[in-house]
Amino acid sequence: MDVEQIKKDFPILENRKIAYLDNGATTQKPTEVIRALEEYYEKNNANPHRGAYTLSIEATELYENTRTKIAKFINAKHREEIIFSKNATESLNLLAYSYGMNNLKQDDEIVISIMEHHSNLVPWQKVAKTTGSKLNYMYINDKFELSDEEIEKKITDKTKIVGITHVSNVLGTINNVKKIIQYAHKKGAIVIVDAAQSIPHMKIDVQDLDADFLVFSGHKMLAPLGIGVLYGKKELLNKMTPFLMGGDMIEYVYEQETTFAELPNKFEAGTQNVEGVIGLGAAIDYIQNIGYDKIQELEKEVVSYAKKELSKLNFLTLYLTPNEENHSSVISFNINGVHPHDVASILDSVGVCVRSGNHCAQPLMRFLGIDSTCRASFYFYNTKDDVDRLVSGLNKAYEMFKKYINI
Ligand code: ALA
Repeated sequence: MDVEQIKKDFPILENRKIAYLDNGATTQKPTEVIRALEEYYEKNNANPHRGAYTLSIEATELYENTRTKIAKFINAKHREEIIFSKNATESLNLLAYSYGMNNLKQDDEIVISIMEHHSNLVPWQKVAKTTGSKLNYMYINDKFELSDEEIEKKITDKTKIVGITHVSNVLGTINNVKKIIQYAHKKGAIVIVDAAQSIPHMKIDVQDLDADFLVFSGHKMLAPLGIGVLYGKKELLNKMTPFLMGGDMIEYVYEQETTFAELPNKFEAGTQNVEGVIGLGAAIDYIQNIGYDKIQELEKEVVSYAKKELSKLNFLTLYLTPNEENHSSVISFNINGVHPHDVASILDSVGVCVRSGNHCAQPLMRFLGIDSTCRASFYFYNTKDDVDRLVSGLNKAYEMFKKYINI
């Protein structure tokens, strides 16, 4: 199967004729996922866990079978270790409130990296301020990577929580989370892995990583918007208090007291996004049919070509590690002296979609001494033609703006 065939699975790419290079923000959806949603509403829609009638029981089975599918997909030991949420952000907020607020005290330390997305940063600021704990940062070196020395300097006996992105949404750096987890465990800390930018591109095995918690969003891996996952070790989730309260997360409710349901329901209050769960199941089937090996082969081809072509443009600064094995599918860049929003607008005028701005990573931008970048983020359905369109758009932008450049 080649990329041109694969591209045909994505109706929007055929309909709009765009070079879609904003996969770090959200991915496009294959026909299989779109059809799964239609089929759910045409044949199976009911509120799971609530009805004694056949349709509701079927909806429950579809919902719960997808939980089992996800558990297998990331090799969780128990299916009830999979909690559905709205997205990675909500999963991280759940952890901040239900774990962080209750387990940290004065002078404990939370350690995160400077390349975290705001969603794995702002909640920890709140936890630190409320509990009197300290929020410390692991900084990157001049290769845009975390060195072993930095990891070992920042994770100490006082560290109780380490939050780390598996892949940076700005730099594409792949962090060695397995090594970080091993080191943090030696120091007695638990580790939360933000896999939002990694799971679309690489196989995740939570038991092999020994991650305590791991979060991701469905929409960055071909599934619909509004569905996310929190994985947590059962023994940790069992000790945590619920995050949101309401229907379906209770056991008994009295006028003044409530006892809570077992996992996973304890963390799934209210009617859930069943269509999102079904869509995520279909996305996982699609990914598994293609296979991560093939996904990586296709991405490597297009990303290597992009790096080669972009590095020929001497008016461009690229923000990425030279170590190919530590780099995923995101390339941030700037035309020196031109605002990224202007560059992105010119690219849009030639049908190339990139993100521009601070990418929800303001502390990282400040650390790099810049305000913003353009970011091209690739997925396995991108072609060399998409890269050529990007390069030609960048040449156009440079020609338009070069007379105003004052650097
Ligand atoms: N977190 C998404 C991104 O990096 C929205 O674009």
